Amino acid sequence: PGMIASSSVKDYIRTIVDFPHEGIMFRDVTTLFADPRGFRMAIDQLLNPYAGAQIDKVVGLEARGFILGGAIAHQLSKGFVPIRKKGKLPAATIAEEYKLEYGEAVVEIHDDALAPGEKVLIVDDLLATGGTCEAGIKLCERLGAEVIGCAFIVDLPDLGGRKRLEEMGMDVHTLCA
Ligand code: PRP
Ligand code: ADE
Repeated sequence: PGMIASSSVKDYIRTIVDFPHEGIMFRDVTTLFADPRGFRMAIDQLLNPYAGAQIDKVVGLEARGFILGGAIAHQLSKGFVPIRKKGKLPAATIAEEYKLEYGEAVVEIHDDALAPGEKVLIVDDLLATGGTCEAGIKLCERLGAEVIGCAFIVDLPDLGGRKRLEEMGMDVHTLCA
């Protein structure tokens, strides 16, 4: 009696078996993004550790990091900067190559997107091997920015991403495993 249903971010995420390849358990956050309470909860929880922190720019990693990064930048009243897969950004870029849980890729940032000394928060939906985020950190640092933290909804700890980023001295914030 008097029980109030409560939900957590994890309750809104579904797992798709064998996508995009056999053996991959794909964490699908579209169901979280589609739910008005779920999406708000995710944005609030991603931002919670950074209340009062100095953040000059929010950097989002393609593609789901754009959805989160846009909402977070708006909430902070800061600008948003995309890190994109190779060949998508129109102006002059710098690039980093990296390995994925499945496959390889190159990510790019506009070479004028961050100014030296700017404090940056990197956001994405999911941390697996950490390769994507490590490449993103390197791009930000090559432009002279300081990455003050990396925030993700999902951590896949067995893939070692958190350890890898923490060994680089990064502050890593995740909402669920
Ligand atoms: C996923 C996820 C992260 C990355 C994590 O993106 O959204 O960006 O993989 O993996 P890692 O920690 O091993 O680097 P995906 O490659 O599916 O690209 P997309 O968002 O453009 O579809
Ligand atoms: N990116 C890398 N591994 C993933 C997974 N298991 N689910 C969703 N996105 C991913």
